[in-house]
Amino acid sequence: MDLPPQVIELDGVTLRRFNGEADLPELFRVLEESLEHLRPWVHWVAEHSLARTTTFLASRAERWADGDAFSYAIVLDGGIVGACGLFRHDDTPANSYELGYWLHPAATGRGVATRAARALVEQAFRLPGIDYVEIVHDPANLASGAIPARLGFIEHLRRPAERLAPAETGEDQIWRLTRRQAKATLASGEAP
Ligand SMILES: CC(C)(COP(=O)(O)OP(=O)(O)OC[C@H]1O[C@@H](n2cnc3c(N)ncnc32)[C@H](O)[C@@H]1OP(=O)(O)O)[C@@H](O)C(=O)NCCC(=O)NCCS
Repeated sequence: MDLPPQVIELDGVTLRRFNGEADLPELFRVLEESLEHLRPWVHWVAEHSLARTTTFLASRAERWADGDAFSYAIVLDGGIVGACGLFRHDDTPANSYELGYWLHPAATGRGVATRAARALVEQAFRLPGIDYVEIVHDPANLASGAIPARLGFIEHLRRPAERLAPAETGEDQIWRLTRRQAKATLASGEAP
């Protein structure tokens, strides 16, 4: 199976595959510092614990090998400042990935998540058989929605969604970028 690179060097930002238990102390600390920033939009924050972060890290290798989730630490100035990834739910078609991201609050406002997402889009379309990438967020989560908008994604669909995190409105906003659109938008340099 074709797999994306384990390390992606960007301008000032590194995406690197999580490294199992070795990342536990740092990732747990970064999450602890980010909880109130993430809580409005990220439902799993309600179950945040050392055990949960341990399980997350322990499950990365198998999920990567299966092509179900390519999860990267976002590294800035030598430290983890967030995470991003390409992943599939049980019902995600085999010709697509969903893209997700979160940042420590101190790392926001500098284009880090946008650069990370752009790099993952490029990697997704290097994998054979991938026709589109989607980003799903609550319509009220404007910071999240600004990322697909910057990268040339097209708003594809809104659908009712369970309210899982406190600020969620009960709707999902789904953005989609096809392989063809990505070629046009990302290659033209229009997107940051
Ligand atoms: C979603 C989230 C990662 C977005 O973070 P962000 O800092 O807004 O996104 P970026 O890192 O791409 O930075 C964009 C900001 O940097 C600015 N910026 C500076 N240089 C930039 C560059 N080269 N490219 C893009 N933006 C740049 C942008 O103008 C923007 O600032 P603005 O919001 O004041 O306009 C962050 O809000 C977060 O962690 N939220 C909680 C978790 C979450 O909601 N995750 C998504 C769930 S669907």
